Amino acid sequence: MSRSFWDSYQTFLAEAQSWTGEAGEQAAVEAVRRRARQNRAEFLAWVKSCGWGTAYVERHLLYVAGHPEPVRELLRRGYPLRRISLRAVNPEVLEQALAHRDWRARVDRLFQPAPLPEWASRPVWLFDSTPELRRLEALAVPIAGALVEITCPLGGLVIDPMAGQGSIVRAARESGRQAWGSDLRPRSPDIVRADISELCHHVQSHTADALMLHPPTFESWSVTAQELCEVPASEHYAAYLDFIAGLLRDAGDVLKPGGKVVLIARPPRRGQVYLAPFELALGEQGLRLMAYRLAVSRDGREDWHFFIAQSS
Ligand SMILES: C[S@@+](CC[C@H](N)C(=O)[O-])C[C@H]1O[C@@H](n2cnc3c(N)ncnc32)[C@H](O)[C@@H]1O
Repeated sequence: MSRSFWDSYQTFLAEAQSWTGEAGEQAAVEAVRRRARQNRAEFLAWVKSCGWGTAYVERHLLYVAGHPEPVRELLRRGYPLRRISLRAVNPEVLEQALAHRDWRARVDRLFQPAPLPEWASRPVWLFDSTPELRRLEALAVPIAGALVEITCPLGGLVIDPMAGQGSIVRAARESGRQAWGSDLRPRSPDIVRADISELCHHVQSHTADALMLHPPTFESWSVTAQELCEVPASEHYAAYLDFIAGLLRDAGDVLKPGGKVVLIARPPRRGQVYLAPFELALGEQGLRLMAYRLAVSRDGREDWHFFIAQSS
């Protein structure tokens, strides 16, 4: 059976400790690094005498001491180094995966996420809806997954302050991202109860790679919106758009520079359909629209519009 990378590292460490006279891991590795800089010939001779390649030592073995603990634990468990994508590692996400009995499959998924399905590269997405999804105005799971995939890097942070039953938060966590969700009326234990205007008390500014904003549709909002009491019916839609602009003001601050926001909307079907104001509301917050997708249920009864914008 071939030796694991961790076994090789243990041998390297023992040799390094004996060569440098340093007992601790960090101290021995630091001493080897110093010698590699200060006395190159001596370092190369030592590497050769131990039977390693110089690149292997300098690119891999000398870095192990500095890896986050979950990466070291992964190596300790014999996971192959070549399968670890250090750029994609988020220590917290990795630690959670390692806590599970099926940790290996979970870690595999973190480093080799399922490729985006073919349909997600098309401008119009089709999905299967259900009466329950319709009632909750919730996203179908594959749609939530595709939105996460196209807006958030592996290991990045997704924030969903109107998370409802938490489809986006779950899709993000299952695909190697960190995710946090809240809602005025959460429908899952994963989701924190909070009004979006309190978001800044829960999430630090400029931390999110992706902000998902999925407000109630105009129809459901107008049933309960108190701000409509004094407003003539002809101005109700304008009041709804003010509500959307307010949400972007409340939540936009959590985005990192260059982070993405997905504004998810379903304009009313009766009368005129206004899409431009959603783009305008994003623009007013300094968010640049970069893509637009439309998702239509296979029965044709439901549609969601996704405005994908980026902060500068
Ligand atoms: C369209 S649903 C979101 C559905 C969600 N994406 C899902 O897949 O389950 C809109 C959500 O916004 C929430 N909401 C409405 N006003 C809110 C507010 N001021 N702060 C936080 N959440 C709010 C509602 O409770 C509702 O769950």
